[in-house]
Amino acid sequence: MNYKWPDHVKFPEDAWLNFHENHIPVWDTILHTLKNKDSNIGIEVGSFCGGSAVWLLENVIKPSGHLYCIDIEEHELLKHNLSVYKNVTFKKGNSFDVMRSLNNNNTEFADVIYIDGSHHAKNVLEDMVISWNLLKQDGIMILDDYGWGSDRVDYETPKPAIDVFMYIYRDLYEVLQFGWQVFLKKKKYKLTEDFLERKYETYN
Ligand SMILES: C[S@@+](CC[C@H](N)C(=O)[O-])C[C@H]1O[C@@H](n2cnc3c(N)ncnc32)[C@H](O)[C@@H]1O
Repeated sequence: MNYKWPDHVKFPEDAWLNFHENHIPVWDTILHTLKNKDSNIGIEVGSFCGGSAVWLLENVIKPSGHLYCIDIEEHELLKHNLSVYKNVTFKKGNSFDVMRSLNNNNTEFADVIYIDGSHHAKNVLEDMVISWNLLKQDGIMILDDYGWGSDRVDYETPKPAIDVFMYIYRDLYEVLQFGWQVFLKKKKYKLTEDFLERKYETYN
């Protein structure tokens, strides 16, 4: 499939650095429910030049919605590619710090969260745990690069973080897609708490 990027969008000359291109058919299918909704809020951890951010802004986040892009660096092409959108905020910094600052009111406000920042397991796990608490019930969390880094020690790759998160949170989500990217839909729940634990009674 050849996605028609908006005319203003520029990528680095190395085609492989357009990381999002190959994922578009799956995103198109799985995110179709969000496409019909106004005012979606998205959070992206790891924006690089803005491929996935632009796709979200063109296809899922309408002008009445908002996208938060987090990256430890602000690439010149990211600045350029996002400059035409009014409904995006770029937050420069380590995702661990930035996401906690988005959590001011302790609310679940995001409809879609994409985790594609640091690929070290500890960081991926932290990104998942923090962002899970920002994700709405029925919201979708997308995790990139489950199969990445087979030539590295495993704690330098996303896989063990995704595996352990999926095990511990196993009752709280539905798997929409499991492959190079993993798509989890947060189930609706009712929360009860006592001194020892928070209990999530899930519905769907
Ligand atoms: C693979 S690229 C993201 C690609 C982008 N999602 C796309 O589809 O075009 C990963 C990005 O994560 C950023 N990054 C790495 N570690 C980070 C961290 N701890 N916090 C925030 N961003 C981080 C890098 O600077 C890089 O731009």
